[in-house]
Amino acid sequence: MEKLVIEGGAKLKGDVYISGAKNAALPIMAATLLTDEECVINNFPMMRDTVTMAKLLESLGKKIKYGKNKITVTSNGKPSHVASYELVSTMRGSFCVLGPLLAKLKKATVSLPGGCVIGVRPVDLHIKGIKALGAKVEIENGYVIATANKLKATHMYLGGVFGSSVLATANIMMAAVFADGETIIEPAACEPEVTDLANFLNKMGAKIKGQGSPRVSITGVKKLKGVTYSIIPDRIEAGTYILAAAITKGTITLHNANLEHLMVLVDKLKEVGVNLESKNNKIKVSPAKEIKPVSITTYPYPGFPTDLQAQFMALMALAEGVSIITDKVYPDRFIHIAELDRMGANIRREGSIAIIEGVKELRGAAVMASDLRASAALIVAGLAARGKTEVHRIYHLERGYVDFDGKLRSLGAKISRVQEK
Ligand code: EPZ
Repeated sequence: MEKLVIEGGAKLKGDVYISGAKNAALPIMAATLLTDEECVINNFPMMRDTVTMAKLLESLGKKIKYGKNKITVTSNGKPSHVASYELVSTMRGSFCVLGPLLAKLKKATVSLPGGCVIGVRPVDLHIKGIKALGAKVEIENGYVIATANKLKATHMYLGGVFGSSVLATANIMMAAVFADGETIIEPAACEPEVTDLANFLNKMGAKIKGQGSPRVSITGVKKLKGVTYSIIPDRIEAGTYILAAAITKGTITLHNANLEHLMVLVDKLKEVGVNLESKNNKIKVSPAKEIKPVSITTYPYPGFPTDLQAQFMALMALAEGVSIITDKVYPDRFIHIAELDRMGANIRREGSIAIIEGVKELRGAAVMASDLRASAALIVAGLAARGKTEVHRIYHLERGYVDFDGKLRSLGAKISRVQEK
């Protein structure tokens, strides 16, 4: 087991290269189940979660060949409709094989994903959606067992108490690609990663319209073909480095990043005093003289992303005043508060809101990674803290970031990877 050791205080500077989006790669990998032909996925982010998904695809009849920032997916001739607990329970995103398995094989047995530290993570909307398409669904021994001779198009409402669902939209979009007629999903998730999936499916020959809007239409086709496709940049990775630069009052340039996917962060950081400007696929971050307190509430896209909430809280811990953070997507996503407080932050939770009283400085401490983004927040805090911060259980981090410590070192951070004793 390894830990990351950070000596705080260095201002980040220089260039960082953003990888492909994890949350686009996972459903796009699942979508390769909809064809037996070869798919080449470029700008591919190699990390624990995408490797887990590749292993799952191999158990479902695919052969994966890894290249530099790319994978090639072909069929191994042994298709299976069973996605095992061992694999699905380690990575919730793998639940999005349900839709493509049902569409391609007319049946799917997929383990229910566990909950995780950020919340219960129900899948009721996924099940509601495939039932609306005419699938028969049973839940047995922790598995969803779905069958359907012929899926039929329908107009469905897919909103939950927290609004639209990213992976439920992805699952139903994929389940509907061969269904006779036009399926309409409302409210569909508008996240750029869902749009990327729709664009990938259309390149395969699907007929999807309205992606990126709350009303998406899928007109069934007979067959999908293999394609070559390049994944969009990871806006959450980009946002994490932007907040790391902001907290260290550094000046950095992000390459292969798309600022249009981060307009809410641009807006909020302008209030903080941090300036972001974009020119041809590069984003320049200029520091604030002083960090002004800014309150945020997370919402489905284009609202403030819940996946940047923890990292933004780390920045607010050093603001000149009080800010309030509300998470409307995962009301319990505050595990990072206790760890930030151990570093000298002054944050308290009241239900689904956190009240952050900015402090003059944070102090290095030994902290425990847990949720992927909470781990990133602790590192962001450690970069600005006085003294040494040790982050344990960094496998959580490796699930969702490509070479996080390496990229931070290239920006001048004093961060090293050390074997746990
Ligand atoms: C995706 O998860 C992302 N994961 C998450 O990123 C991200 O936090 C989340 O979307 C919200 O943006 C992937 O794309 C692999 P949801 P997903 O369904 O699709 C509720 C990361 O760090 N809900 O959009 O599982 C749910 O409880 C990860 O990269 C239902 O009620 O999230 C939540 O409150 C963490 N019923 C809200 O909807 C359902 O059937 C949004 O969840 C499904 C979801």
